[in-house]
Amino acid sequence: MNWGLVGGGKASQIGGAHRIAAQLDGHWRLAAGALDIDPEKGRAYGTELGIDESRAYGTWQDMLKSESGREDRIDLVTIATPNHTHFEIASAFLSAGFNVLCEKPLTMTVRDAEDLVRVAEKSGKICATNFGYSGYPMAIQAREMVRNGDLGDIRVVFSEFAHGFHADESDNDNPRIRWRYDPEQTGVSSITADCGVHALHMAEFITCQRITEVSAQFDHCVDGRALEDDALLALRFGNGSVGRLWTSAIAIGQVHGFGIRVFGSKGGLSWHQEFPNQLHFTPLNGPTRILERGSEALYPKARAASRIAIGHAEGMFGAFGNIYRSLHETIAGPGPATGDFPTVEDGAAMVRVIDTAARSAKQGGAWTPV
Ligand code: NAI
Repeated sequence: MNWGLVGGGKASQIGGAHRIAAQLDGHWRLAAGALDIDPEKGRAYGTELGIDESRAYGTWQDMLKSESGREDRIDLVTIATPNHTHFEIASAFLSAGFNVLCEKPLTMTVRDAEDLVRVAEKSGKICATNFGYSGYPMAIQAREMVRNGDLGDIRVVFSEFAHGFHADESDNDNPRIRWRYDPEQTGVSSITADCGVHALHMAEFITCQRITEVSAQFDHCVDGRALEDDALLALRFGNGSVGRLWTSAIAIGQVHGFGIRVFGSKGGLSWHQEFPNQLHFTPLNGPTRILERGSEALYPKARAASRIAIGHAEGMFGAFGNIYRSLHETIAGPGPATGDFPTVEDGAAMVRVIDTAARSAKQGGAWTPV
């Protein structure tokens, strides 16, 4: 099927991951793109990647107009531009009848997120949000274990996404870092919306519960930043369980720093993104078991999400690739075998949590309903 990409230009952080992941199973062919804020650079990079000259566009508006009129129009467009552009680009493509995979955070405001859910519903098209980590086989296994009651009633969820790559004040002018702390381009939150959101989504994904209340503390440790570079959130979930999130951009020495622990009445589990093949599970009063990706002992959805044999490394491209595979199975039929992809509702739920956290932080950490 034909796939299009908006953003994700040559110097971008995440464009390469999308291109590799989308094309991993041979289902999606990069047929069109508006890859860069600079039209010339975008066109040049598009043709360099093998996109036909007539479909290597200078702007997403040109791409939308031209693709709308084509018989071989793209079947899915990925939006991998900075946050402040997601709403406008995603709404425009959905309204013109295109399926969309939008990068996180879905939008900058709750109003835009809720509008986008309505636009997606009205269009009858798919709008997915790229919480790519939920494509990791062992994250899917963790969710299946919760669904099948292996952990009993979920009591506490502890997640963190704390890295140390924005700790240097001299980086404030780096164009890839600058927009992340500019409220005009990122909204009410920086690190919570940028990285914390993945851990928040993972907490909802694994426990199959929405976050209903938040008490947040936002701090900025590097001078000159208008938004938080470190945050601590206490969470309450719909089923009565509680959660904690620590997210940070100044935690020097932490590399990726994304992990989650879930504790229920019958057992606890722990997964860390830097060791994605292993899921630790400890039943109540029992010894810890290390579940390996690719093992026959996993639930079917986790087995289906695994592309290579047990013991080999499988990482981020495989996780993003599972999102693309689910989208292909949903659009082309017969329906997803690997599991779900995060939807526009999941994206909107996260925008609500981020907005609630920002309001709570302003009120000294007051418990605030989502
Ligand atoms: P970046 O700043 O490295 O790259 C952004 C790219 O978008 C650049 O190529 C830029 O030229 C292009 N661009 C900007 N405005 C554009 C426009 N109007 N039309 C066409 N192209 C445009 O940003 P990065 O880190 O790649 O992030 C992009 C998005 O992906 C953000 O929303 C970010 O939150 C998200 N992201 C998601 C990750 C995930 O794991 N799901 C990981 C990293 C980023």
